[in-house]
Amino acid sequence: MSQRAAIVTGATSGIGQAVARALAEEGHALTLTARRADRLDAVVAELRGEGFAVHAVPAELQEDGAAARVVDGHRERWGRLDVLVNNAGVGRGAAVAETTQADLDLQLAVNLRTPILLYREAIGLLRAGAREHRNALVVNVASVTGVYGEPWLSVYAATKAGLINWTESMHRELSAEGVKSTALCPGFVDTPSRDPAAGAPDPTAMMTPDDIAEAVRFLLRVSPACCVPRMELVRPGERMA
Ligand SMILES: NC(=O)c1ccc[n+]([C@@H]2O[C@H](COP(=O)([O-])OP(=O)(O)OC[C@H]3O[C@@H](n4cnc5c(N)ncnc54)[C@H](OP(=O)(O)O)[C@@H]3O)[C@@H](O)[C@H]2O)c1
Repeated sequence: MSQRAAIVTGATSGIGQAVARALAEEGHALTLTARRADRLDAVVAELRGEGFAVHAVPAELQEDGAAARVVDGHRERWGRLDVLVNNAGVGRGAAVAETTQADLDLQLAVNLRTPILLYREAIGLLRAGAREHRNALVVNVASVTGVYGEPWLSVYAATKAGLINWTESMHRELSAEGVKSTALCPGFVDTPSRDPAAGAPDPTAMMTPDDIAEAVRFLLRVSPACCVPRMELVRPGERMA
Protein backbone atom coordinates (compact mmCIF):
# COMPACT_ATOMS: atom_id res chain seq x y z
CA MET A 1 0.00 0.00 0.00
CA SER A 2 1.29 3.49 -0.91
CA GLN A 3 2.35 5.72 1.98
CA ARG A 4 1.17 8.88 0.22
CA ALA A 5 -1.79 9.79 -1.97
CA ALA A 6 -2.53 12.49 -4.53
CA ILE A 7 -5.31 13.93 -6.66
CA VAL A 8 -4.55 15.24 -10.15
CA THR A 9 -7.17 17.15 -12.16
CA GLY A 10 -6.95 17.21 -15.93
CA ALA A 11 -4.96 13.99 -15.88
CA THR A 12 -6.00 12.70 -19.32
CA SER A 13 -3.63 14.85 -21.30
CA GLY A 14 -0.51 16.97 -21.46
CA ILE A 15 0.87 18.34 -18.20
CA GLY A 16 -1.63 16.54 -15.94
CA GLN A 17 -0.83 13.14 -17.42
CA ALA A 18 2.93 13.70 -17.01
CA VAL A 19 2.52 14.95 -13.43
CA ALA A 20 0.32 11.94 -12.59
CA ARG A 21 3.02 9.57 -13.77
CA ALA A 22 5.69 11.40 -11.77
CA LEU A 23 3.58 11.26 -8.61
CA ALA A 24 2.95 7.53 -9.12
CA GLU A 25 6.69 6.96 -9.58
CA GLU A 26 7.28 8.95 -6.38
CA GLY A 27 5.11 6.52 -4.41
CA HIS A 28 1.67 8.14 -4.44
CA ALA A 29 -1.63 6.34 -4.81
CA LEU A 30 -3.59 8.42 -7.29
CA THR A 31 -7.05 9.71 -7.99
CA LEU A 32 -7.22 11.08 -11.52
CA THR A 33 -10.03 13.18 -12.87
CA ALA A 34 -11.13 14.69 -16.20
CA ARG A 35 -14.29 14.62 -18.33
CA ARG A 36 -13.45 11.93 -20.90
CA ALA A 37 -14.03 8.59 -19.21
CA ASP A 38 -12.47 6.62 -22.08
CA ARG A 39 -9.23 8.64 -21.88
CA LEU A 40 -9.21 8.33 -18.10
CA ASP A 41 -9.66 4.56 -18.38
CA ALA A 42 -6.72 4.39 -20.80
CA VAL A 43 -4.42 6.43 -18.52
CA VAL A 44 -5.45 4.40 -15.46
CA ALA A 45 -4.94 1.10 -17.32
CA GLU A 46 -1.47 2.14 -18.47
CA LEU A 47 -0.35 3.12 -14.96
CA ARG A 48 -1.95 0.09 -13.30
CA GLY A 49 -0.19 -2.08 -15.87
CA GLU A 50 3.09 -0.80 -14.43
CA GLY A 51 1.97 -1.70 -10.90
CA PHE A 52 0.87 1.75 -9.72
CA ALA A 53 -2.16 2.31 -7.45
CA VAL A 54 -4.53 4.47 -9.49
CA HIS A 55 -8.24 5.07 -9.77
CA ALA A 56 -10.42 7.52 -11.66
CA VAL A 57 -13.31 9.80 -10.81
CA PRO A 58 -14.67 11.26 -14.07
CA ALA A 59 -16.00 14.78 -13.58
CA GLU A 60 -17.07 17.87 -15.48
CA LEU A 61 -15.49 20.41 -13.17
CA GLN A 62 -17.88 23.19 -14.19
CA GLU A 63 -20.74 21.32 -12.52
CA ASP A 64 -21.86 22.19 -9.01
CA GLY A 65 -20.73 19.51 -6.59
CA ALA A 66 -17.94 18.18 -8.85
CA ALA A 67 -15.11 19.15 -6.48
CA ALA A 68 -16.82 17.44 -3.55
CA ARG A 69 -17.44 14.30 -5.61
CA VAL A 70 -13.77 14.08 -6.62
CA VAL A 71 -12.51 14.47 -3.05
CA ASP A 72 -15.16 12.09 -1.65
CA GLY A 73 -14.18 9.48 -4.24
CA HIS A 74 -10.53 9.92 -3.33
CA ARG A 75 -11.19 9.70 0.41
CA GLU A 76 -13.25 6.52 0.03
CA ARG A 77 -10.57 4.84 -2.09
CA TRP A 78 -7.34 5.95 -0.41
CA GLY A 79 -8.28 7.51 2.95
CA ARG A 80 -5.51 10.13 2.94
CA LEU A 81 -4.29 13.03 0.83
CA ASP A 82 -0.77 14.45 0.65
CA VAL A 83 -0.70 16.21 -2.74
CA LEU A 84 -3.42 18.02 -4.68
CA VAL A 85 -2.60 19.12 -8.23
CA ASN A 86 -5.05 21.67 -9.63
CA ASN A 87 -4.05 21.27 -13.24
CA ALA A 88 -7.25 21.19 -15.34
CA GLY A 89 -7.52 24.39 -17.31
CA VAL A 90 -8.95 25.85 -20.44
CA GLY A 91 -8.03 28.86 -22.59
CA ARG A 92 -10.36 30.58 -25.05
CA GLY A 93 -8.73 33.29 -27.13
CA ALA A 94 -10.80 36.34 -28.07
CA ALA A 95 -10.49 40.09 -28.46
CA VAL A 96 -12.30 41.92 -25.68
CA ALA A 97 -15.19 42.93 -27.96
CA GLU A 98 -15.73 39.31 -28.98
CA THR A 99 -15.60 37.84 -25.48
CA THR A 100 -18.72 35.74 -24.87
CA GLN A 101 -20.22 35.19 -21.45
CA ALA A 102 -20.12 31.43 -22.04
CA ASP A 103 -16.36 31.49 -22.56
CA LEU A 104 -15.89 33.88 -19.62
CA ASP A 105 -17.90 31.61 -17.31
CA LEU A 106 -16.14 28.46 -18.56
CA GLN A 107 -12.65 29.82 -17.89
CA LEU A 108 -13.58 31.28 -14.50
CA ALA A 109 -15.20 28.00 -13.47
CA VAL A 110 -12.47 25.59 -14.56
CA ASN A 111 -9.37 27.73 -13.99
CA LEU A 112 -10.24 29.57 -10.77
CA ARG A 113 -13.47 28.46 -9.06
CA THR A 114 -12.61 24.75 -9.19
CA PRO A 115 -9.18 25.02 -7.51
CA ILE A 116 -10.74 27.13 -4.72
CA LEU A 117 -13.52 24.56 -4.18
CA LEU A 118 -11.02 21.69 -4.24
CA TYR A 119 -9.00 23.40 -1.49
CA ARG A 120 -12.18 23.72 0.56
CA GLU A 121 -13.13 20.10 0.09
CA ALA A 122 -9.62 18.71 0.57
CA ILE A 123 -8.30 20.85 3.40
CA GLY A 124 -9.25 18.40 6.16
CA LEU A 125 -7.33 15.57 4.49
CA LEU A 126 -4.38 17.83 3.67
CA ARG A 127 -4.17 19.01 7.28
CA ALA A 128 -4.18 15.40 8.47
CA GLY A 129 -1.25 14.64 6.15
CA ALA A 130 0.56 17.78 7.30
CA ARG A 131 0.18 16.77 10.95
CA GLU A 132 2.07 13.60 10.03
CA HIS A 133 4.92 15.00 7.92
CA ARG A 134 4.49 18.82 7.57
CA ASN A 135 4.90 18.49 3.82
CA ALA A 136 1.39 18.44 2.33
CA LEU A 137 1.45 20.16 -1.05
CA VAL A 138 -1.03 21.85 -3.38
CA VAL A 139 0.28 22.62 -6.86
CA ASN A 140 -1.79 25.10 -8.82
CA VAL A 141 -0.90 25.05 -12.51
CA ALA A 142 -1.16 28.71 -13.49
CA SER A 143 0.73 30.30 -16.39
CA VAL A 144 3.20 33.08 -17.15
CA THR A 145 0.19 34.84 -18.70
CA GLY A 146 -1.08 35.19 -15.14
CA VAL A 147 2.08 37.13 -14.28
CA TYR A 148 2.32 39.58 -17.19
CA GLY A 149 -1.06 39.46 -18.99
CA GLU A 150 -1.75 38.42 -22.56
CA PRO A 151 -3.64 40.26 -25.29
CA TRP A 152 -6.42 38.23 -26.96
CA LEU A 153 -6.13 35.70 -24.17
CA SER A 154 -7.05 38.20 -21.49
CA VAL A 155 -9.76 36.26 -19.67
CA TYR A 156 -7.51 33.21 -19.44
CA ALA A 157 -4.66 35.43 -18.21
CA ALA A 158 -6.93 37.02 -15.60
CA THR A 159 -8.04 33.63 -14.27
CA LYS A 160 -4.41 32.57 -13.97
CA ALA A 161 -3.52 35.85 -12.21
CA GLY A 162 -6.34 35.11 -9.80
CA LEU A 163 -5.01 31.61 -9.26
CA ILE A 164 -1.50 32.94 -8.52
CA ASN A 165 -2.92 35.41 -6.01
CA TRP A 166 -5.09 32.68 -4.44
CA THR A 167 -1.97 30.53 -4.12
CA GLU A 168 -0.11 33.31 -2.33
CA SER A 169 -3.03 33.71 0.07
CA MET A 170 -3.11 29.97 0.74
CA HIS A 171 0.66 29.98 1.28
CA ARG A 172 0.22 32.64 3.95
CA GLU A 173 -2.88 31.00 5.46
CA LEU A 174 -1.80 27.35 5.56
CA SER A 175 1.95 26.85 5.18
CA ALA A 176 2.74 27.29 8.88
CA GLU A 177 0.54 24.20 9.43
CA GLY A 178 2.57 22.22 6.88
CA VAL A 179 0.16 22.63 3.93
CA LYS A 180 2.30 24.23 1.22
CA SER A 181 1.01 25.90 -1.95
CA THR A 182 2.84 26.52 -5.21
CA ALA A 183 1.67 28.32 -8.34
CA LEU A 184 3.51 26.76 -11.28
CA CYS A 185 3.73 29.31 -14.07
CA PRO A 186 4.89 27.78 -17.34
CA GLY A 187 5.34 29.47 -20.68
CA PHE A 188 4.59 27.44 -23.83
CA VAL A 189 4.45 23.71 -23.19
CA ASP A 190 4.03 21.19 -26.01
CA THR A 191 0.62 19.67 -25.20
CA PRO A 192 -2.51 18.90 -27.25
CA SER A 193 -4.12 22.16 -26.11
CA ARG A 194 -1.57 24.23 -27.99
CA ASP A 195 -3.05 25.42 -31.27
CA PRO A 196 -0.21 26.09 -33.74
CA ALA A 197 -2.51 28.50 -35.60
CA ALA A 198 -2.71 30.60 -32.43
CA GLY A 199 0.95 31.50 -32.69
CA ALA A 200 2.55 28.85 -30.51
CA PRO A 201 6.22 28.30 -31.34
CA ASP A 202 7.63 25.26 -33.08
CA PRO A 203 7.06 22.21 -30.79
CA THR A 204 10.79 21.49 -30.79
CA ALA A 205 11.31 24.91 -29.17
CA MET A 206 8.73 24.33 -26.45
CA MET A 207 8.99 22.90 -22.97
CA THR A 208 7.60 19.42 -22.49
CA PRO A 209 5.04 18.15 -19.98
CA ASP A 210 7.90 16.20 -18.38
CA ASP A 211 9.69 19.50 -17.66
CA ILE A 212 6.67 20.53 -15.58
CA ALA A 213 6.51 17.11 -13.92
CA GLU A 214 10.17 17.53 -12.91
CA ALA A 215 9.23 20.77 -11.15
CA VAL A 216 6.64 18.83 -9.14
CA ARG A 217 9.26 16.21 -8.21
CA PHE A 218 11.45 19.04 -6.90
CA LEU A 219 8.56 20.38 -4.79
CA LEU A 220 8.08 16.89 -3.30
CA ARG A 221 11.75 16.65 -2.32
CA VAL A 222 12.33 19.94 -0.51
CA SER A 223 12.25 19.94 3.28
CA PRO A 224 9.26 21.12 5.33
CA ALA A 225 11.20 24.35 5.92
CA CYS A 226 11.23 25.21 2.20
CA CYS A 227 8.15 26.73 0.54
CA VAL A 228 7.95 27.76 -3.11
CA PRO A 229 4.88 29.98 -3.51
CA ARG A 230 5.54 30.64 -7.19
CA MET A 231 7.72 29.02 -9.81
CA GLU A 232 8.12 30.32 -13.38
CA LEU A 233 9.26 27.96 -16.12
CA VAL A 234 10.07 29.69 -19.39
CA ARG A 235 11.86 28.98 -22.66
CA PRO A 236 15.19 30.61 -23.54
CA GLY A 237 14.58 34.30 -24.09
CA GLU A 238 10.93 34.10 -23.07
CA ARG A 239 9.68 37.09 -21.12
CA MET A 240 9.54 36.94 -17.34
CA ALA A 241 7.83 39.31 -14.93
N1 LIG B 1 0.29 23.99 -22.64
C1 LIG B 1 0.76 25.19 -22.29
O1 LIG B 1 1.48 25.86 -23.04
C2 LIG B 1 0.43 25.74 -20.93
C3 LIG B 1 1.15 26.86 -20.48
C4 LIG B 1 0.87 27.39 -19.24
C5 LIG B 1 -0.10 26.83 -18.45
N2 LIG B 1 -0.80 25.74 -18.91
C6 LIG B 1 -1.83 25.19 -18.02
O2 LIG B 1 -1.52 23.85 -17.76
C7 LIG B 1 -2.70 23.12 -17.46
C8 LIG B 1 -2.75 21.86 -18.32
O3 LIG B 1 -2.71 22.29 -19.67
P1 LIG B 1 -2.35 21.32 -20.88
O4 LIG B 1 -1.65 22.15 -21.87
O5 LIG B 1 -1.72 20.06 -20.39
O6 LIG B 1 -3.83 21.08 -21.46
P2 LIG B 1 -4.55 19.82 -22.10
O7 LIG B 1 -3.58 18.92 -22.74
O8 LIG B 1 -5.65 20.41 -22.93
O9 LIG B 1 -5.20 19.12 -20.83
C9 LIG B 1 -6.24 19.74 -20.12
C10 LIG B 1 -6.80 18.73 -19.14
O10 LIG B 1 -7.88 19.35 -18.41
C11 LIG B 1 -9.04 18.56 -18.53
N3 LIG B 1 -10.21 19.42 -18.53
C12 LIG B 1 -10.42 20.48 -19.36
N4 LIG B 1 -11.62 21.02 -19.11
C13 LIG B 1 -12.19 20.30 -18.10
C14 LIG B 1 -13.42 20.36 -17.41
N5 LIG B 1 -14.36 21.27 -17.73
N6 LIG B 1 -13.68 19.45 -16.43
C15 LIG B 1 -12.75 18.51 -16.13
N7 LIG B 1 -11.55 18.41 -16.75
C16 LIG B 1 -11.28 19.28 -17.73
C17 LIG B 1 -8.86 17.78 -19.83
O11 LIG B 1 -9.51 16.53 -19.84
P3 LIG B 1 -10.91 16.23 -20.56
O12 LIG B 1 -10.87 16.93 -21.88
O13 LIG B 1 -10.97 14.76 -20.62
O14 LIG B 1 -11.90 16.82 -19.61
C18 LIG B 1 -7.35 17.52 -19.83
O15 LIG B 1 -7.06 16.38 -19.06
C19 LIG B 1 -3.86 24.08 -17.70
O16 LIG B 1 -4.30 24.64 -16.49
C20 LIG B 1 -3.23 25.15 -18.58
O17 LIG B 1 -3.90 26.39 -18.47
C21 LIG B 1 -0.57 25.18 -20.12
